[in-house]
Amino acid sequence: MSREDRDKWNARYAEGAYADRTHPSPLLEEWLPRLEVSAASPRAVDIACGNGRNALFLARNGWQVDAVDISDVALQNVAKSAEDESLAVRCVAADLESAEPIPAPILPPQAYDLAIMFRYANLPLLKRVGASLKPGGYLIVEAHLQTDAEVIGPGSARFRLAPGALRAAAGELAVVDYSEGLVVDPDGRLAALARLVARAVS
Ligand SMILES: C[S@@+](CC[C@H](N)C(=O)[O-])C[C@H]1O[C@@H](n2cnc3c(N)ncnc32)[C@H](O)[C@@H]1O
Repeated sequence: MSREDRDKWNARYAEGAYADRTHPSPLLEEWLPRLEVSAASPRAVDIACGNGRNALFLARNGWQVDAVDISDVALQNVAKSAEDESLAVRCVAADLESAEPIPAPILPPQAYDLAIMFRYANLPLLKRVGASLKPGGYLIVEAHLQTDAEVIGPGSARFRLAPGALRAAAGELAVVDYSEGLVVDPDGRLAALARLVARAVS
């Protein structure tokens, strides 16, 4: 695990980063009821879960969730919320950008009915994420897009996706829905986003 990255994110969460962003993503709220999932107790993984707004939302809706992040401070927040509400969330600390191979227990093959990755752009990881989906399982991704507009998110274009990049990274997954553009978040702030809903071919 990169100590520098972990320390940077831990410091942000210790200062209260995203503490006011408790609403689940509207994209996830929109798509969750539309997913064709047959498992009685479906499994999801929230990649770079942060404080867990989306992981907790899934768990409140009956999902068993693995919540993965580099920040153990954020994961402590998730674990506390899950415990308070008796939700099925398993917190896993991992550096998903390490030069070392990702340990096998993280993103195991054909394990999940749903994988989500929100506001964290790690396109090289999507191949591994796709392999961790059950046949017919879904991937939902939302990432900051390059733009000239005044928006929230990373100031540097380096940390934003180029147009078309997310769609191209879906690889062998079947794209169910894809969009790019300006979106007003539930808190009224403007974001430039690429949004993908894709499915593992069954
Ligand atoms: C902008 S936050 C998004 C959090 C959450 N997905 C959401 O939408 O509220 C980005 C998250 O990525 C995590 N992250 C950054 N680098 C990471 C890495 N190398 N491995 C795992 N998680 C990482 C951070 O700790 C942070 O929680």
